[in-house]
Amino acid sequence: MKKLNLAIIGQGRSGKDIHGRYYVSDKNVYYNIKYVVELDEHRREVAKEMYPNCEVLCDYKELYNKTDIDLVVNDTYSDLHFPITKELLEHKFNVLCEKPFVRNRYECDVLENTAKENGVVLAVFQQSLYGPMFEDALRIVNDKVVGEPLQISIRYNNFARRWDWQTLQTRMAGNVFNTGPHPLGIGLALIGFDENWELKFGEVKLSPLSSGDADDYCKAIISAPNKPVVDIEVNSMDAFSNYNIKIQGTRGTYQATNTNWKMKYIVDGENEERPVKKNFIVNAKNNPAYCSEKLITHEEEGEFNGTAFDVGTAKLYEELYFKITKGKEMYVNVDKARHTVRLIEQLQSKSKAHVKYL
Ligand SMILES: NC(=O)c1ccc[n+]([C@@H]2O[C@H](COP(=O)([O-])OP(=O)(O)OC[C@H]3O[C@@H](n4cnc5c(N)ncnc54)[C@H](O)[C@@H]3O)[C@@H](O)[C@H]2O)c1
Repeated sequence: MKKLNLAIIGQGRSGKDIHGRYYVSDKNVYYNIKYVVELDEHRREVAKEMYPNCEVLCDYKELYNKTDIDLVVNDTYSDLHFPITKELLEHKFNVLCEKPFVRNRYECDVLENTAKENGVVLAVFQQSLYGPMFEDALRIVNDKVVGEPLQISIRYNNFARRWDWQTLQTRMAGNVFNTGPHPLGIGLALIGFDENWELKFGEVKLSPLSSGDADDYCKAIISAPNKPVVDIEVNSMDAFSNYNIKIQGTRGTYQATNTNWKMKYIVDGENEERPVKKNFIVNAKNNPAYCSEKLITHEEEGEFNGTAFDVGTAKLYEELYFKITKGKEMYVNVDKARHTVRLIEQLQSKSKAHVKYL
């Protein structure tokens, strides 16, 4: 199989430790790391060691003279995703752009049109939609494993302070733009990216835990006709958050973190019928009583084999290889990314965070 030549712009936490880790892993049988573009000299030196055959560059515009590139990965600061991706597409490069990808629908449409006009592939790095936790949750919902899902709760919360560029509105940062694409995308995916979803409630705020001016509290409730309620939080002041996805169905509950899952459910017909009583109920001593019984339930639990960061990244890059070489559709396409962008856009319109740093 012919490997594709790849250039990546940005070798930070994501470029080096998510994308780079995949490039140097056994799972990467698809890409040669040909060029690394990075503003920082030390990071360029590290890249030379990490990817021995690559050429390092300082300015991404130097890529425009190269004729041996099959894919460019835009892993720069979030506010540079749109302008740099647009230029790359105009120069007829296939592009994989990190999340959050774009600020709004208009930018999404511009990039989609630019890719079409130039006959190139535009892909979005939303690797959580390829991770084992998400795929298991999707199976639980679609196969009604804990009955008909009534509520899906998604928590990407922590209790931590932050002071880097990911706290600045000018850099398109904050919890909604930064972490948001993962849980918001998962929430929309678990209701099948229903065309009629609506944001029923949204609150976006900034707490003193952040040194910057971008939000670090987000609560979103979305739903669509005949779909479960999806309740999402991306908060930095939650000291007691013990799951990422919880699905409450008509027969029980499923709960997962990035590493583990468990569920508890009942099976139809195993528990004695309980016809409704219209008047008071009593216990064996004829005293007033509450409904009480030993319900026959089943419990299962397990561990995931990998996370969105390793398994998810490898899957996304594999799909992208076949998209570029064979035109095969990817699970995360621009249409799905646009749903997430629309939700982010609606949440941002409710933000109470004032711009403080320009
Ligand atoms: N998908 C994920 O799970 C995930 C995780 C972390 C970050 N991200 C995303 O990745 C992007 C980068 O975040 P990060 O945490 O890696 O940031 P970072 O600060 O660790 O690194 C950013 C790097 O990009 C380089 N850079 C910026 N502009 C450049 C330019 N014009 N040319 C060349 N290099 C440039 C910087 O010098 C820096 O080394 C963000 O958009 C972030 O939202 C995604």
